[in-house]
Amino acid sequence: MMAWARAVALVVALVASRAYATDIEYLAPPGVPAKEFPSPRRPVAEIVSPSRSDEQHRDALNEASEIARLLELKPGMTVGDIGAGSGYHTVRLSKLVGPTGSVIAEDVTKDYLVELARRTQRQKLTNVKFALGDAHDPRLPASSLDAAILVHMYHEIAQPFAFLYNLVPALKRGARVGIVDLERPTSEHGTPIELLRCELTAVGYREIATHQLAGDGGYLAMFSPPQQAERKSPQDIVACGNRAGIR
Ligand SMILES: C[S@@+](CC[C@H](N)C(=O)[O-])C[C@H]1O[C@@H](n2cnc3c(N)ncnc32)[C@H](O)[C@@H]1O
Repeated sequence: MMAWARAVALVVALVASRAYATDIEYLAPPGVPAKEFPSPRRPVAEIVSPSRSDEQHRDALNEASEIARLLELKPGMTVGDIGAGSGYHTVRLSKLVGPTGSVIAEDVTKDYLVELARRTQRQKLTNVKFALGDAHDPRLPASSLDAAILVHMYHEIAQPFAFLYNLVPALKRGARVGIVDLERPTSEHGTPIELLRCELTAVGYREIATHQLAGDGGYLAMFSPPQQAERKSPQDIVACGNRAGIR
């Protein structure tokens, strides 16, 4: 490519990425601040990557279709991909929910969402919205979601009690929350299922069922959220930890 053509391509790419960056913002006002909640009494994993593993490997295990089947995700729904990262699930959910549904791809890392917006534009997926979140608050519009998935990201949520509490208003009545993670310590990018149950229960979520996913895919734990009015007050939430099986 000639030097001038390379320069034009670079300027176009820079302008495009700036456009995405300004488009990506909070979709809702802040919820309850993190300081009102207990901190987790166990390590929080660092954010190191926008994806869990190779997408071909995940497809070979039918990860996306298995999660969709178990959570009963259908055309026309609005599904939140919380901690969407590079969007393995976002792009597959976009096709599943179809033109009458939508996906809200949420993340705390704005650069990941900018890259994901480019990916969806390349694939001409027009039913995906992007939502910037805070570590303690997904900042999603009230009653917007029929279901939410949190895949290989729960162990990175710095303020899980605040996050789960502030997620509740975004969930429609009857919505399910599916959490996928590995049965290993949070410091090693997993969440022991007993710890997950304890933390979700502490905020008033109820477990519906837990399934083992194929291969090294980990588990899918499904919960129903408390009604907004039934939520415990933040000061009454007791952090889990220092018990057998909770690392
Ligand atoms: C290992 S990646 C997983 C991405 C994707 N869900 C997948 O399965 O490939 C974890 C993602 O969670 C995001 N994340 C970490 N803490 C978060 C939080 N409190 N709220 C929303 N996203 C968060 C990170 O920025 C990262 O994109």
